[in-house]
Amino acid sequence: MLDDDLENIYAIKKESPLVIGITDNTNIIASDIRAILKYTNKYYILDDLEYAKVNAKEVIIKSKEGKIINKNLKVFNEKNNDNSKGHYKHYMLKEIMEQKETIFNTILPFIEEGIDSLEKLPDLTKYQEIAIVGCGTAYHAGLVAKYLFKEIANTRCNVYIASEYRYQNNFLNKDTLTIFISQSGETADTIAALKLVKNKGCPTLGIINVKNSTISFLVDKCLYTNAGSEIAVASTKAYTAQVALLSLLVLAQAYRNKSLSKKEVLQIIEEFKNIKTLVNDVLNKKDLYQKLAKDIYKEEDIFYIGRGLDYALAMEGALKLKEISYIHSESYAAGELKHGTISLIKKGTPVISSATNSNLNAKTISNLKEVLARGANVYLITDEHYKEDIIQIINIPKVNIFIKPLLIVIPYQLIAYYVAVLRKTDIDKPKNLAKSVTVE
Ligand code: G6P
Repeated sequence: MLDDDLENIYAIKKESPLVIGITDNTNIIASDIRAILKYTNKYYILDDLEYAKVNAKEVIIKSKEGKIINKNLKVFNEKNNDNSKGHYKHYMLKEIMEQKETIFNTILPFIEEGIDSLEKLPDLTKYQEIAIVGCGTAYHAGLVAKYLFKEIANTRCNVYIASEYRYQNNFLNKDTLTIFISQSGETADTIAALKLVKNKGCPTLGIINVKNSTISFLVDKCLYTNAGSEIAVASTKAYTAQVALLSLLVLAQAYRNKSLSKKEVLQIIEEFKNIKTLVNDVLNKKDLYQKLAKDIYKEEDIFYIGRGLDYALAMEGALKLKEISYIHSESYAAGELKHGTISLIKKGTPVISSATNSNLNAKTISNLKEVLARGANVYLITDEHYKEDIIQIINIPKVNIFIKPLLIVIPYQLIAYYVAVLRKTDIDKPKNLAKSVTVE
């Protein structure tokens, strides 16, 4: 605002998002249309270095050279955009429960007509390698995809934390497709990593939840997860939507490069069609998660262990717990415990694990027995029927490997939630954390 110009507000867009909402009697500057939806759903999006002069009656947008730009007025009409808590006490619980719908909504366009639908996904067979970049929970979704790309689709894949990726030598080349995963599409480190790849002219793909976000514009191709608005800081339904979409990318890859036969792919697609019932089944075991939460909520250190896919999920389980309960929780590759972390296990330390890979389960169980011998209280999420009475077991349905991560993570989310309820923390807005981290 200038001293002699009290009528107008001037706004410039630089890196972080900027929208201008238009109403009949005023205009509003905001970082996201969702923040002002109760006033208007009509808005302009500014591009980098464009600026605007805004007053109650008009909006003038100019390029950095000072030329007036006639922007298209956008109308926000997203479905699944109920921003109320409904009958839930917290957004987080609402979003966890919504997963029976959101996962299905994400995958439906790519499974409804069998292989023909799957073929709508981009063909990745022309790349020699897949790189995945993200932060926090999005990074963890990438770890699940890496496991599936390598083990099922026989495709080279690496996953990077965006804040590391942007400052290291990534040997960028045009034969590597880099996939950027982000719920918000606005995370500063992920955007910086993406710009690095783009500046080298290398191919990019986005897995993004928020429509019209910065990353969705910058990537060569964007696939939306369609999980609807996620409001709780701790990501839940966005994670499962990311994992589900990535799993289908892997399935399409496995079909195209013949790592799986057509018959196998069709069977997996059929099982995906039943995802609502499967997810509901796991969501309904509320009593078990509440009981486990009651056992552990007063502890100060909790360990999550697993092997392979179960290790990637343990990382997400530990993150959920520490984010909202403020309990120190650590994830470890089960086989690595003996190289250090086992020294921290004492009488009563909770160790939570999942074992859903018949080739690795015996190894994981043996690691659990090692911590049991040192006094740990052990909890196991599994699709096998073990009769170990010293280990407390949560059973999930037996499903194919693409669906497993979507089911295993639900107990982890709900355990974290019920622990946080007992510790009376600010679940939707945990201290020191932000939903969208638009600064480095
Ligand atoms: C923040 C949020 C996390 C999220 C991460 C990445 O730390 O609290 O829940 O996983 O950012 O966010 P993005 O929007 O890029 O997925």
